[in-house]
Amino acid sequence: MSTIISVIPGDGIGPEIMTATLRVLDALDAGLEYEFVEAGLAALENTGELIPQETLDSITNRRVLLKGPLTTPVGKGFRSINVTLRKQFDLYANVRPVISMAGTKSHFENIDIITVRENTQGAYLAADSKISDDGETAESKMVVTRHGCERITRYAFELARREGRKKVTIVHKANILKTVSGMFLDVSREVAKKYDDIECEEMIVDACCMKLVMNPWQFDVIVTTNLFGDIISDLCAGLVGGLGLAPGANIGKNAAMFEAVHGSAPDIAGQKIANPCALLLAAAQMLSHLGMEDKAKRLREAIRATLAAADRVTPDVGGSGSTESMADAIIERL
Ligand SMILES: NC(=O)c1ccc[n+]([C@@H]2O[C@H](COP(=O)([O-])OP(=O)(O)OC[C@H]3O[C@@H](n4cnc5c(N)ncnc54)[C@H](O)[C@@H]3O)[C@@H](O)[C@H]2O)c1
Repeated sequence: MSTIISVIPGDGIGPEIMTATLRVLDALDAGLEYEFVEAGLAALENTGELIPQETLDSITNRRVLLKGPLTTPVGKGFRSINVTLRKQFDLYANVRPVISMAGTKSHFENIDIITVRENTQGAYLAADSKISDDGETAESKMVVTRHGCERITRYAFELARREGRKKVTIVHKANILKTVSGMFLDVSREVAKKYDDIECEEMIVDACCMKLVMNPWQFDVIVTTNLFGDIISDLCAGLVGGLGLAPGANIGKNAAMFEAVHGSAPDIAGQKIANPCALLLAAAQMLSHLGMEDKAKRLREAIRATLAAADRVTPDVGGSGSTESMADAIIERL
């Protein structure tokens, strides 16, 4: 029986890398059918809305979304589409793995770190944001809840256990942000006690950034709040050569969204040279989520082997190939 997933091709390079990704998924014989819906600039032009109701209904019904990068128009009145989707479907766990791949330019080798970032609370969803009438003072209120802290930490420990990981690092700033980060640390400690098979360490966010650069191999799974997670996960992507190979899963109780971490790359859109690997790695996360771990593994191995052989790869990783030629090379290795 086939599974129907929602697909948003996206803006800019989105349709190019999505076409390549779906071709690879079809070659894997993953039994997927695609319900195409719109969001972002494409949707705004066609329907007058950034996220049409039809798209929201599709995600509600299909519960799994593969999403190309979206362009949020610059200007007042447009809230980030990604933040809106995360909030709307309560996609509380942002899971961003980074793994070193041979054949890519990076300062470090043998990196394998997963950052689990809280996605629905904290600085990015601050309440009562305003600037005073005289324009001199800006303020916004950061809110976290025990429930929010508990479920994200539990997600990280469960993921660590499921994937045979050894250690979870709780990253915080409880020494200064005594209430919001303090609550996250207190609750995380309580959760960690229930997972005595997994080592737990605590680290202040600034020290964590330094240690990630000095000795990234000491990290395994990192769990943290929204703002710190955003920064740390990009730092981790930088350790393995940048955003071109960074996928992200956004997991909630009733829906999950899988995407490349990079944006719509308007500077290269239409040139057919966008690297499809980040979206393909996101598709691998999706296959794992759908219980197809064997196919996810085959896909990751085919990507790894293609990059290592520099076979028909795109210019960003040193080749002279195209999005489609890279997909062909990956399909041949599946
Ligand atoms: N998840 C998302 O939907 C998402 C994430 C980030 C940015 N955006 C949006 O994307 C637009 C452009 O943002 P930006 O330019 O800051 O970031 P970007 O990630 O789109 O591009 C940054 C640089 O990386 C390159 N790049 C990105 N993806 C690539 C790929 N797959 N292959 C080869 N090169 C690639 C681009 O050519 C560019 O030089 C903005 O409208 C922004 O809002 C969307």
